[in-house]
Amino acid sequence: MYKRILVTGGAGFIGSSFIRYGLQKIASCEKIVNLDLLTYAANLDNLTEVASDPRYHFVHGDIRDERLVAELLEEHAIDAIVHFAAETHVDRSISGPRAFYETNVGGTVALLEVVRRFPKVHFHHISTDEVYGSLGHAGQFSETSPYRPNSPYAASKAASDHFVRAYAHTYGLSTTLSHCTNNYGPCQHVEKFIPQMITGALLKRALPLYGTGENVRDWIFVEDHSEAVWMILEKAKPGAVYDIGGGCEMRNIDLLHTLLREMGCSSDLITLVPDRPGHDLRYAIDTRKIRQELGWVPRHDFTAGLQKTIAWYTDHARK
Ligand SMILES: NC(=O)c1ccc[n+]([C@@H]2O[C@H](COP(=O)([O-])OP(=O)(O)OC[C@H]3O[C@@H](n4cnc5c(N)ncnc54)[C@H](O)[C@@H]3O)[C@@H](O)[C@H]2O)c1
Repeated sequence: MYKRILVTGGAGFIGSSFIRYGLQKIASCEKIVNLDLLTYAANLDNLTEVASDPRYHFVHGDIRDERLVAELLEEHAIDAIVHFAAETHVDRSISGPRAFYETNVGGTVALLEVVRRFPKVHFHHISTDEVYGSLGHAGQFSETSPYRPNSPYAASKAASDHFVRAYAHTYGLSTTLSHCTNNYGPCQHVEKFIPQMITGALLKRALPLYGTGENVRDWIFVEDHSEAVWMILEKAKPGAVYDIGGGCEMRNIDLLHTLLREMGCSSDLITLVPDRPGHDLRYAIDTRKIRQELGWVPRHDFTAGLQKTIAWYTDHARK
C-alpha cells in the first residue's frame, strides 16, 4: 500500500473527500500532501476536519509547475500521486474550452513529465465516464468501450487519459486509471446540478432544468468513489483501469422531483430552459470489474446519500 501520497486538487469536491477518507480510515496512511491552485472551485473549509492532522500538508500551487512538483516528491518522499485537479464544469468548457485543455491536458502531461524523473512514484489518474460519450436508452459502458467524448470537458479528460496510457507504455511508468460516474454529496460547488437545485429550492427560486429533463445520469455518493480509489491504490496491478459507478441511474427530472419531495418543496419551482448544446442523453457504467477484482461495492443508498447532502447544504446556508 502506498503510504505517502501527493493529492492534486485536494481542496475540490472529490479530492477533499478522498483526503478526509484517507486520514480518517486508512491506518497505513503516513502522509498526504495536497497540491491545489485554489481556483474558484476550491474550498479549504472542506478540509477543516483534518487540517490539524500532522500527516496532512497543504501546498498552494499549480500542477503545471514541474519544479514545485519535483520538490514535493523529493521533500516528502512521495510514493504515489493521485491526480484529481482539473477544470470540471461541462457548461464552462462550452463557453471557454481553452482552460480545460490547459489544465486537464497540459497539467496532466506536466505531472507525467515529473514522474518520468521519479519512476518509483505510482500515478493514479482520476477520469470520468464522460470520455465514452453518450448512450441510448439501453446498454452500459465498460473499461473496453471506445472513447467518444462529446463536450470539450470530456475531450480534455479523454486526452489526459491517453497521455497516461502512452507514458505508461512508452516510459514504463506505474499507472492506474479510474472512470467514475456523477458524484454527489457534501462540499460540491454550487454550480453543479444537485447543489444548485438544493440551494435554489432553499431560497424558493426557479430551478432551471435543461431540455425536458430526460437526460439520464448514474449517481454515486462521493465517499463511495473515494473508497474505490483507496482500494485501487491498495490492490490494483499497475496498468489497471477501473470503471466506478453507483448503480443508480435516474432521469434528471425524476431526480429533481425526488429532491423536492425530500425537501418538502413544490415542483412548481422547476423551470425548463433550452438544452445544453450537445447534451449527452445517458451515461451508465458496468462496474463488474472493480466489484469482482477488488471487492468494492458502493455503500450508500441514494435516498440516504441525498438526505445527507440536503442536510449539509441546509446547514451551510444558515452559516
Ligand atoms: N464531479 C464529478 O461528478 C466527477 C465524476 C467523475 C470524475 N470526476 C473527476 O474528478 C476530479 C475532481 O472533480 P471535482 O468534482 O472534485 O472537481 P472540483 O472542480 O470540485 O475541484 C477541482 C480542484 O482542482 C483544483 N485545480 C484546478 N486547476 C488546478 C491546477 N492547475 N493546479 C492545482 N490545482 C488545480 C481546483 O482548485 C479545485 O480544488 C476531476 O478530475 C474530474 O474530472 C468528477
